[in-house]
Order: sequence, then C-alpha cells, then structure tokens
Amino acid sequence: MNEVFGIAGLGLIGGSFARAIKEKTDCRVLGYDINNEVISAAKEQGVIDGGLTGSIKECSIVLIALYPEETLSFCKENFPLMKSRTIVVDCAGVKSRICAELSAFAKENSVCFVGGHPMAGVERSGFSSSFSGLFNGAVMILCEDENTDSGAIEKLEKFFPVLGFGSVKVTTADEHDEIIAFTSQLAHLVSSAYIHSGALKKRYGFSAGSFKDLIRVAKLNCDMWTKLFFENKDNLLKETDVFLENVRKYRDALALSDAGAMKKLLKKGAELKAADEKEEEKWLVSQKIKNFLDDDKKPYIQINVNTQGGKYPVIIGEDLNFGKLALEIKKICRAVIISDDNVFPLYGNTVAESFSKSGFQTDTFIIKNGEESKNLNAVSELLNFLAEKNITRKDMLVALGGGVAGDITGFASAVYLRGIDFFQLPTTILAAVDSSVGGKTGVDLQSGKNLAGAFHQPAAVFCSTNVFSTLPKNVYADGMAEVIKHGMIADKDMLLCLKNMAVSEMCSRNVKIKAAIVEQDEFDTGVRRLLNFGHTIGHAVETLSNYQISHGSAVSIGMMMITRACEKRRLTESPCLDELKKTLESFGLPVRCDYSAKQLAQTALHDKKRLGQTITLVIPKTVGRAELFDLPVTEFEDFIADGMEE
Ligand SMILES: NC(=O)c1ccc[n+]([C@@H]2O[C@H](COP(=O)([O-])OP(=O)(O)OC[C@H]3O[C@@H](n4cnc5c(N)ncnc54)[C@H](O)[C@@H]3O)[C@@H](O)[C@H]2O)c1
Repeated sequence: MNEVFGIAGLGLIGGSFARAIKEKTDCRVLGYDINNEVISAAKEQGVIDGGLTGSIKECSIVLIALYPEETLSFCKENFPLMKSRTIVVDCAGVKSRICAELSAFAKENSVCFVGGHPMAGVERSGFSSSFSGLFNGAVMILCEDENTDSGAIEKLEKFFPVLGFGSVKVTTADEHDEIIAFTSQLAHLVSSAYIHSGALKKRYGFSAGSFKDLIRVAKLNCDMWTKLFFENKDNLLKETDVFLENVRKYRDALALSDAGAMKKLLKKGAELKAADEKEEEKWLVSQKIKNFLDDDKKPYIQINVNTQGGKYPVIIGEDLNFGKLALEIKKICRAVIISDDNVFPLYGNTVAESFSKSGFQTDTFIIKNGEESKNLNAVSELLNFLAEKNITRKDMLVALGGGVAGDITGFASAVYLRGIDFFQLPTTILAAVDSSVGGKTGVDLQSGKNLAGAFHQPAAVFCSTNVFSTLPKNVYADGMAEVIKHGMIADKDMLLCLKNMAVSEMCSRNVKIKAAIVEQDEFDTGVRRLLNFGHTIGHAVETLSNYQISHGSAVSIGMMMITRACEKRRLTESPCLDELKKTLESFGLPVRCDYSAKQLAQTALHDKKRLGQTITLVIPKTVGRAELFDLPVTEFEDFIADGMEE
C-alpha cells in the first residue's frame, strides 16, 4: 500500500489514525487541525508528513475525525477540491444526519463517501493522548446506502485491519444509530448518572471492580457527548425509557420485599448475559473465519445466517480448506464424514485428509446414493455407527454430498445424544443454494417425503464450487429449478442474468435469499412458506410419476402451472410466464406434464401442507415477488385446469 492519506482533526482518533498509518504502512499522511500547534507537534513527531490544507487533491483516502458540525462544513468545503474517486470516511459517533447530508453531495462531486465509526477510545482526548495501538482488536463500523461505492467498501474492509482493527462491520446509518444508542450512549449516560450519588464521597475502602466498571466512562467530554446525545435523541430516549422501566422493576421488588420477583429478575439477567456471551463467541468465530480467509488470499464469499437455533457462516469459494475452516469453529475432536457412494470416491479422501491435517480424527460412513436412502433405516444405522464408535457430544458430523446426505446427517446430529454439531459441505447446486441452509433435516417415511425430521441448524456451511464440475447434467438442472424459484419469489435481477452469472455469485445470492427468509420464519409458519413456490403441484407430479420425474423437474412443472393459472385469473400484477418458461427451458427443465388436473389436485390434496378447508398456494405477483394465497380446496382442481397448456 503506497497512497496519500489526509486526516482532518488530529485529536485522539485522528492522531491515532495518523500514527497507525505511519507505523504500519508506507503511506504519506497529510494532516489538518484547527489548532496550528497540534499540526506543528504532529510534523515534529513525524506523525504527519505535511499539512492537508491546499494539498487535499493529492489524497486518495481522507479520514475525518472532527465533531459532526465541523465534519459537515469540512466536507462541503473540500469535496469539490478532491480528485475524482477519493474515498472519504468520517468518524462521527452518530451517523444518520451526516450520511443523509453528505451521501448525495459526495456523489455529485465524484467523491466516494462512507460513514464510519471506529469503536475505540480511552478516557482521555486530544493529540497528546493519541497512540498507534488505539484500534487494536476494535470494530470499525462502515455505513452504506444507495450512493455508496461498493469498491470503496471492499477497499476499506481490507485497509482498516491493517491498522489493527479486529473486524469491519458494514451496516446502514439508521441501524448504526439505533444500536449505538444502546451499546455506547446509554452506557455513558448510566455511568454519568450513577456517579451522582452522595455516597461517592464515602466510597474509599469500600469499592472494587464492579464499581470501577460502572464509573469507567463517567469522565467524558461533556461538549461532545451532549452533541452526540442530542443528534440521536429519539433512539437514546427510547433506550433510556427501557432502562428506567427495567430498573423500576428491581426497585419495586425491593420496596415490596418480594424476594421471588427479585430472584426472577436476577435470574433472567444472568440468563441473558450467558446467552449473549454464547452469541458473541459465535460472532467472533465468524470474524475469525473471515480473517483466516482474508489471509488465505483466495476469493470467497461469506454470508452469516442468524436464527434462534444458531448463528453460522456460509462460506462459498473454490477449493476451500475445510479442515482449517472447521478448526476456527470447533476444537480438535472426532469428525464423522457422511457421504454417498457417488460423492465419496470423488471427494471423500480430499475432505478427510483436509480434516485430519488440521488435527481432527476422522471416520467415514457411506450411504447408497439417491433418495431411496433417505429413510429411518439409514438414520438408525448411522446412529448405531456413532454409538459404536463412541462419538461424544464434543465431536461432529460432516455431511459431504447433496440434499440426501445433508438431510440424513442433519437429522442424525439433531437426535444423537440429543444434538451434536454438524457441518454441511454441499456438493450439488440444490444443496448449496437450498437444503444446506435453514436447519430443516429429516427423512422420508413410506407414507411420503420428509415426514419425519427436526429443525437443527448446522455449525457452518462450506461450499467449494469446484465440486459442481462432476455433477450429472440432470442433477445440475434439478438444482437450477430451486435457483429459478428463488429468482421468481425474491430476486428479479438474478433471474434475468442467470445465464451469465458466475456460480459462486449465484450460490451466494441464493443463500442470502434463503437466509433472509429463514431468519424471519425459522419454523415454517409464515413467510418461509414462500419457498414452496411450485412445490404443491410439483410434489403431486413427483408422486404420480412414482418419483421417476425428479424433484427439480417436478417443481419446474409446478411453477409453470401455477404461474399460468395466476396469469389467466389476473392474480399477477405483471406478466411473468414467458420469462419463467424461457429461463426454465434454457436450463433443460421441463415445463409441462401429462397428468390431468383431477389427478394432480387429488394427489396434492393428500399433501401434508393442506390445512382445513383451504390450500395455501404461493403465487407470483411479478418476476421477483410472490405472495401466499389461500384457495378453497373445492376450487383447486379448476385452478390447476387453468394452469394447463391449452
Ligand atoms: N433440508 C432442506 O431444507 C431441503 C430443501 C430442499 C431439498 N431437500 C432434499 O434434498 C434432496 C435432494 O437433494 P439433491 O438433489 O442434492 O440430491 P442427492 O443428494 O441425491 O444428489 C443427487 C445425485 O447427485 C450425486 N452427486 C452429488 N454431488 C455430486 C457431485 N459433486 N458430483 C457428482 N455427483 C454428485 C449424488 O450421488 C446423487 O446421485 C431431497 O431429499 C429433498 O427432499 C431438502
């Protein structure tokens, strides 16, 4: 890295940025401060190479560490003077107003503005307190909006860790302000309020760590914090009210001598703290994985899935080092790799070697390939195998394969010893874009598909896209049916560009769609049902064909029929049938079948998803958007008839 940095405001934050850049890079630093003595001191100490005033055109990145008002006036004055595509990051502690005022103005001036907030500080201020290690391990928050240049964000995500930051969090200005009201502003307010007690004067000899923790940030910069509090008044007021309401509950329990209520409150607090620690640990793990992959320097995409059942990363890349990645999440333990007799000969040894090289002791369990293996017998054999091998709760299962291996492994790990960790290593498109994410696991019963199962989220999903090269054409196409389904319900742009999209990009867009839906409705009672688009009729097609028509082909037919019926009945807002048909056919998927409306309706109505006198269908409104629609079961056959080709 050899660039010219501008730093406006050489206080604690700006001064520390200048010191860290000089110490950790070969870049030049130009500085500005309202106080000329500070500029002279910074030059003398070699913290900056020169003044910023008059030289801002030389800079490729400008960091602004001024108060909010000064930040605004500095940017308004200086954006027009900067060279095109200069990246500007401010450091104000409240973001909504600054980002709203500067984002469009920056674009007009061809400046790439990104709202920033380094989550670091000490109880001192000014240049004399600055030091190069201030940011070590801290989070740098970056706020993006519709004007943000994604290249600038990518560059900054790589740059801030060079200065010592532990991670970079990208969010929106509004979300930043809402959360910062709780995590930072309320903590400062409470610390300041706490120390107002008259008992303070008599505390010597009576206070220990808990007291120190609470008063740590009370000696704050009053001008700055007053401004920050009022900049974020609504969010802070909301958090303060929540806090007062909670404190009152403790006070009332005390006043009423209600030991039961007090115990309950303390217990809930302790539980929340324990759960928070666990979550934080998982978050840190996902950051560690990110840093590990960044160091590895191979391109990859990481998506974090957040469900009640667990937070986990989905890593998509070529030729991933599975064992090393797993080691970022699990301590050394035994890893049982479960795969089928097609996939294991192709990739099993590489995967097992990768795990054992990282220190895991591996075992393998191979199932026969195909849907017929997805039954309770296979699970029972696998569970017995785990028990015979003395696999413990500390160990883990690794599903290497398509949806069948994933569903069986997931189910076994949900029930073995009442739940152990499992990793998904998807090898089909369907598993990569759909079944590996979301925590639905299970097997088929004689009465139907997926009738026994459990919700159990994986510890991580590692998707190495190079394995798709050996997929049989029909299995590839099957997965594409689910991709097209995702496009139809949630991502028009993807659907329109599918033919020219890199496979890693395609997988990541699909995982994002699936993750967003699962995060809202983990247990499939609401919005998750949108993922059933094409499935009600599709399942009927599968059943009627005695599973000779594959799942993907059947869903393809189902999506076509439902979309045609909706267009005929004017339930869509704009036409989508032609686009859907063109896309399905371009991947070799069928768009029609020979079953009658009566056969399809009768078979579908036996499906487990029917509730009462109506059947819930997923209907397309336009390409990229779908809705749930309740249809009386008595009308279902006519509806399907409308979906038949004329
Ligand atoms: N859990 C969920 O949320 C969810 C979602 C959708 C589907 N599913 C389930 O997923 C299953 C279908 O998954 P699938 O289509 O991946 O089937 P699959 O696992 O049977 O794989 C299809 C075929 O491809 C072979 N194969 C897999 N990867 C390969 C590779 N890289 N190279 C060569 N051959 C390879 C397999 O051996 C198999 O013969 C169904 O049981 C379905 O119910 C589950």
